Order: sequence, then C-alpha cells, then structure tokens
Amino acid sequence: MGMLVGRGGFYCAGVMFLNEALLELRGVIFADSTGRVDAGAFKKTKLTFETKNQLSDIMFYDRTDIVKKGSIEGLKKMADYFCDDILVTGLGVGDRPIGILMACKDNYTKSDSEALLLYGNICSLSIEFSRTVKQLELTTADLASLRKTAMNSENLVRMGRLSATVAHELKNPLVAIGGFAKRMEQTAVNPQTKNYIKIVQSEVHRLERIVGDILIYSRKIEIDLKDFKLRKLVEEIMEMSAGCLSFGMVKLQLDIDEQLTVHADRDKLKQVIINLVSNSIQEMTEGGDMKIDASQGDRHVTISVSDTGGGIPSDKREKIFEPFYTLKKTGTGLGLPLCKKIMTAHGGDIVVGEADRGAVFSLILPKRG
Ligand SMILES: Nc1ncnc2c1ncn2[C@@H]1O[C@H](COP(=O)(O)OP(=O)(O)OP(=O)(O)O)[C@@H](O)[C@H]1O
Ligand SMILES: [Mg+2]
Repeated sequence: MGMLVGRGGFYCAGVMFLNEALLELRGVIFADSTGRVDAGAFKKTKLTFETKNQLSDIMFYDRTDIVKKGSIEGLKKMADYFCDDILVTGLGVGDRPIGILMACKDNYTKSDSEALLLYGNICSLSIEFSRTVKQLELTTADLASLRKTAMNSENLVRMGRLSATVAHELKNPLVAIGGFAKRMEQTAVNPQTKNYIKIVQSEVHRLERIVGDILIYSRKIEIDLKDFKLRKLVEEIMEMSAGCLSFGMVKLQLDIDEQLTVHADRDKLKQVIINLVSNSIQEMTEGGDMKIDASQGDRHVTISVSDTGGGIPSDKREKIFEPFYTLKKTGTGLGLPLCKKIMTAHGGDIVVGEADRGAVFSLILPKRG
C-alpha cells in the first residue's frame, strides 16, 4: 500500500492497488466486528465512510452472493493501520477496478468526502493514463521487434530460395567443366598448361562444395541414425586434414575414449566436425593448438572442438550461425548454419562457448533412446 501524505486536511491517505490477479474483481467489502458487510462497488467509485471502531476487515470480492457473515474471518485487520476514522473510495476507470484510496481524519465533514472523491477521480485518471502510456510504449517496442523479425525471416526465406535455384543451375555446368578439365589434364603436356588445369580443378572443387552446401542447407535434412565409435570417425577426419594441419603448424590433441559409441548419422556428423576443424585451421594461420574431446552425460554426448585462434567476440556469437555470415574473403558463411541444421535434426545443438584463448564449439548429441 502506498501512502499519500494528505492534503486538504487528512492526516494520512493511502492507495491500495489491485494486483494483476485481482483485476477481475468487481468490488471491495468492508466488514465490522459484528459481521455487518458493506460492499462498495468499484463501478460506481462509491464513497464509503467508516469509523475506526466499525472497521475491522477488508476484502475484495467478485460475487456479492458468496460473501456471507463469517466468511471474512481471518482476513487482515485493516483497523490496525489506521488510528482515526477512515474514508474510502474505489479507484477505477469505467468498469475496471484499479484499487482503493483511503484517508484518515477524526471528524469528517461533507467537504472532506467531496475532496476525497475528487482525489479519487484524479488518481484513477492519472494511473490509467500512465498505464496507457506504458502499454503504448510496450506495444510500439513489440511492433518494432516483430517487424524486424518478420523482415529478417522473409528475407532469409527469399534468399534461401534464390540461392537454392542458383546452386541448382550451377551444378550441371560445374560437372561439365570438371569433366573437361580432367580430359585436358590427361592430354596436356606443357607443364604451364597442366598447372592452369590444376587451378581450374581446385576452383571447380571449391564451387562444387559451396553449391553442395547451399543445396543441403535449403533442403530438409534426412537423418540416418546408427551406432558407431566416435574416435574412429574423428581419426578419419584428422587423416584427411593432416596436410592442412602440418602446413598451418597446428598441433592437435585428441581426447576421446576409444570405446565411446554415439548414435548419429555418421556422414552428417563427419561433415559437422570437418566444418569445425576447417574453421579452426583457417583461424590459426600463424600456428596454434586444436583440441577435440568428448564427454558423456546421462542423456547427451558433448563433443568439443577448441582452438587458439582469434576467437569470436561475444556480440558475434549469434550472428555466426546465420546463413551467409562470413568474415572470410572466400567464405560462404554456410559452414556453421549447416552444422546447426544437422545438429538440430539430430535433436541436439551446437553452441559456441567462452574460451580463455580462441574459440570453442560444442556439439550436443542426444544418446540413444
Ligand atoms: N574457430 C573459429 N574461430 C574464430 N572465428 C570463427 C571460428 N569458426 C567460425 N568463425 C567465424 O564465423 C564465421 C562463419 O563461419 P562459417 O563456417 O559459417 O562460414 P565461413 O567459414 O566463413 O565460410 P564457409 O561457408 O566456407 O564455411 C567465419 O567467417 C568466422 O568469422
Ligand atoms: Mg567455415
């Protein structure tokens, strides 16, 4: 209850607000020690006068007929709060109750009652006005954020469709270029020509990977779950990446129990780990340490890939999972979104965490059953 220091001759005055749960209630009841019940409906902003001796209990009601003599026992003794007679008026706007305004004075006159009624009306209007302003502010903020989300998701859907179409159109010409390059490689004798063909082949390979990523990203992912040993899979990836690791002078530490079995789509999980490993290698052009470990909980296996590269600032941690977000000259920005999509399709997740140095990505994979 908030106290208003009385102006206009009252000793003290207080406003009791209805909380959200009580907003549905329609009135307030004053009951004296003899059980006399007086219901002051908010609707009428009725003014009720009680002397201290008469007033013993106060309660809110929503149906007058359920309030019987005796049913008010055990309620808070409001008389304890007041040392004088008390004048009460309901606060409300239209049919909606807001609270009650109470004021104390020894001997009331008619003009005191009128003054309190006037305060009550002013109070109701100011409270309602400030609530409306607050509501308006909240609605405006909601609308702004809704519009932003809608624009983002609409743009993403449009962008996704467009890229899938482009990727699809690129697929066949790329196969043809790759095929011609292979034939030329077999017939070329000039070392310079051979070198050019190698460049064409490696670029075709890179484009094929991007096109593949876009197509996978824009389609629904089918997951083929099987049990397999995680360490074996990670070792295969390490063998594939051995050249890049030693070229970049990256030291690798593997901490995965040989017996740890996971229940996942092997090829897709492999693709996820390859993406993380290649991101880490690309981040450590000056050399560094990479660690892959796995731990088991009751319901999940967590696989972490950490590195000592440049790390990810906290304000970029959500952005990196958005499609086409990249800080690399030749990046597509589809690696991590794809990882997210694959992990979500497994009923798991991928999260980026805090690292002392560099970045750490954790894959959360549900256990079988
Ligand atoms: N280990 C890491 N350390 C620091 N930054 C990282 C790391 N992994 C990802 N990032 C940041 O997140 C961005 C998005 O990564 P993501 O793998 O989605 O795309 P990309 O690597 O840029 O391109 P690609 O499609 O070829 O994978 C990167 O451009 C990089 O800025
Ligand atoms: Mg990447």
